[in-house]
Amino acid sequence: MNDKCHLELTHVNIDFPTDTGPFRALEDVSLKIDKGEFITLIGHSGCGKSTVLNIVAGLHRATAGGVILNGREVVEPGPERAVVFQNHSLLPWLSTYENVELGVKQVFKGKKSRAEMRDWIEHNLELVHMSHARDKRPDEISGGMKQRVGIARALAMQPEVLLMDEPFGALDALTRAHLQDSLMEIHASLGNTVIMITHDVDEAVLLSDRIVMMTNGPAATIGEVLHIQLERPRERLALADDARYNHYRSNVLKFLYERQKRPEESGEADDAAAPGTDDPREDVKPENIALRVVGS
Ligand SMILES: Nc1ncnc2c1ncn2[C@@H]1O[C@H](COP(=O)(O)OP(=O)(O)O)[C@@H](O)[C@H]1O
Ligand SMILES: [Mg+2]
Repeated sequence: MNDKCHLELTHVNIDFPTDTGPFRALEDVSLKIDKGEFITLIGHSGCGKSTVLNIVAGLHRATAGGVILNGREVVEPGPERAVVFQNHSLLPWLSTYENVELGVKQVFKGKKSRAEMRDWIEHNLELVHMSHARDKRPDEISGGMKQRVGIARALAMQPEVLLMDEPFGALDALTRAHLQDSLMEIHASLGNTVIMITHDVDEAVLLSDRIVMMTNGPAATIGEVLHIQLERPRERLALADDARYNHYRSNVLKFLYERQKRPEESGEADDAAAPGTDDPREDVKPENIALRVVGS
């Protein structure tokens, strides 16, 4: 396996068919990612972040260009690329344990014995501090707990690449801080490559090796890439007073609110996006960012 250029997006374009003709969501998206790198994607709602992630996941095909993972083109989903969506996607009739087991069987059937699989499932539930709820079903646990189970299921598949689409977006600030810390620990111990979408600037700076900032669509692309050169392990409390941390943070804010200011924010037409772009989720706004918890 080559360590250099482990994952590469090369000149990716994607056109979605719409009633009024093809809609170009992404244009010329190129990015090289090293093994073990933690990348966050940030950009205004509807710019194409999920589309990028879905192309890497193999759920969408690029119209032009493509994705290479370890020297092979990505053409479909694969167990070496696990995806965590914002809404956990657990099966409601299965317990916490069984939901994780589902992923484990997919990858390790015939490779691990039943006892090994059981130990492995239990180990991954422990990683996200969910062992106590192993027999509970999704409707018996909180949103944060469900999200943790979704993460455990993804991790238990030992994916080389972990793809996360706003995984903590729906969670309260304390749970979010707790999961960010767990994710940093897990990433430090497993060394897998992570691509995570977030709309939280603090989360991006805290977690990333590089923050990839996307321009507004249509024909969105990578506007800037910010290297976060803060030593690990990272401590949210210590970083709150770190000048470098605040410098990175303001860099991202400037990108979003000056260089990629949206038409509606400057009082111009708000019609630049494609039909059906409306994203009801909370968007990046300075007033929301100011509320992020420091310390948990
Ligand atoms: N299947 C699709 N068909 C048509 N347009 C789509 C489709 N998926 C996404 N889009 C459009 O592509 C753009 C990027 O969407 P998305 O990647 O979901 O943005 P983000 O995740 O950054 O909010 C949006 O304008 C969206 O409406
Ligand atoms: Mg999205």
